[in-house]
Amino acid sequence: MVLFIIEALWLVAAAYTANAFPVIVHGKKPLDLGKTYRGRRVLGDGKTIIGTIAGILFGIFIGSMQVLFQGEIPAEWGLSLTVMTWSMVILLSVGAIVGDLLGSFVKRRYGIEQGGKAPLLDQLGFLIVAFLFVSIVHVPDLVYIVTLLIITPLAHVATNGFAYLLKIKDRPW
Ligand code: CTP
Ligand code: MG
Repeated sequence: MVLFIIEALWLVAAAYTANAFPVIVHGKKPLDLGKTYRGRRVLGDGKTIIGTIAGILFGIFIGSMQVLFQGEIPAEWGLSLTVMTWSMVILLSVGAIVGDLLGSFVKRRYGIEQGGKAPLLDQLGFLIVAFLFVSIVHVPDLVYIVTLLIITPLAHVATNGFAYLLKIKDRPW
């Protein structure tokens, strides 16, 4: 069970990283440059240029570590890890960020202000788009997809709560 969850997390490590890293960077200049669409911000102040770039790059960085060092993981650990490739790592990182941006775009269209809650969309938007992107080169096992769709919202809530306690984030979601 634990091994299986590790295998699932291994598959999306780059996407998780790309999604989580911008929160730490805290960029300033918004990616939508303050532009509005039908009276509302296109994306809002929560999606910054630096955060977006840093997220993609750091996701790719973590994924590169997987690509380069996956051969070193001892067989005795009994993990059957998905073989990661450069294209998977790039697609997972870019997909996660695109999914996150799309989520904000959708929230603004529904009139939810920046930082407002959108249950499931906030937690799964990045993951679903990362899955779609990576499927261009490698369709993940369905069991991994289902497992991740279940554990990601829980992990997301936990890490955001933690970031809030550390005052990295101004709201616990
Ligand atoms: N962040 C960033 N650039 C991104 C994504 C996130 O700089 N592309 C930073 C911002 O400081 C943002 C914080 O990470 O406020 C938290 O991200 P998130 O919860 O995804 O955004 P929200 O501020 O909640 O905005 P939204 O309502 O649009 O989701
Ligand atoms: Mg948020």
